[in-house]
Amino acid sequence: MRKPLIAGNWKMNMGGSDSKELSRSIRNALDDYTDIDILLCPPYTAITHVYEIIKNTSIILGAQNCFYESKGAFTGEISPLFLLDIGCKYVILGHSERRYYFGETADLIGKKMICSLDSGLNIILCVGEKLEERENGEAFEIVKSQLEGSFRNLPEDYLKKITVAYEPVWAIGTGKTCEPNMAEEMHHFIRSWFKVKFGDIISNNLRILYGGSIKPENISSLIVKEDIDGGLIGGASLNVDSFIQIIKNTIKAVH
Ligand code: PGA
Repeated sequence: MRKPLIAGNWKMNMGGSDSKELSRSIRNALDDYTDIDILLCPPYTAITHVYEIIKNTSIILGAQNCFYESKGAFTGEISPLFLLDIGCKYVILGHSERRYYFGETADLIGKKMICSLDSGLNIILCVGEKLEERENGEAFEIVKSQLEGSFRNLPEDYLKKITVAYEPVWAIGTGKTCEPNMAEEMHHFIRSWFKVKFGDIISNNLRILYGGSIKPENISSLIVKEDIDGGLIGGASLNVDSFIQIIKNTIKAVH
């Protein structure tokens, strides 16, 4: 059985003192949640603050992006090795905000994946279609091309360090959640793609998160689906009560 993962993507929110306060409240509200993995992804500048607060707990730390080289003359970029060095275990790559605001291609994301995995990080790779692509019946083609582009040169040994997040772009930050059956259909498609490409063991062990307007009220109906193994949460992860409630509802629903 796959262990659920609930990840908070704080995006460009929670600077110095806010990040300390939020991570302290999350730490204090969580007793010992061993049946579920909990991951916090603060902005770069808050990572060490959060690390100091969660370091002796089971809460995992991650970043929201990184570069595809481990060092050198790349002004303004952050190496995956630096993230590892300050306590990160995960990095989110290919988020739609990076694909569409910053022009990140599947090829570039693939390079970031290889460098991050070479450095020892785990990855959450985000995929998902835009509204017009969904309406034109292209959602599955889009997700398939995102997967094919990013996994082209990836050594198979690295696959167990990868989590995929299906995040329909039209559901991110909009309050519109994808219907659980519609989400499950895409999750199943993603798992089947892995099965064909990498075999049963890899596809059965792959965690596939759903992301897009997850709230305490809708997590239970999503997490009970066969191929949905957790959530990548933006807005609702910025509020301690809603984030904790999402975690509690997840645990309740999977037991
Ligand atoms: P949201 O964001 O929960 O605010 O929709 C999800 C994400 O972008 O990962």
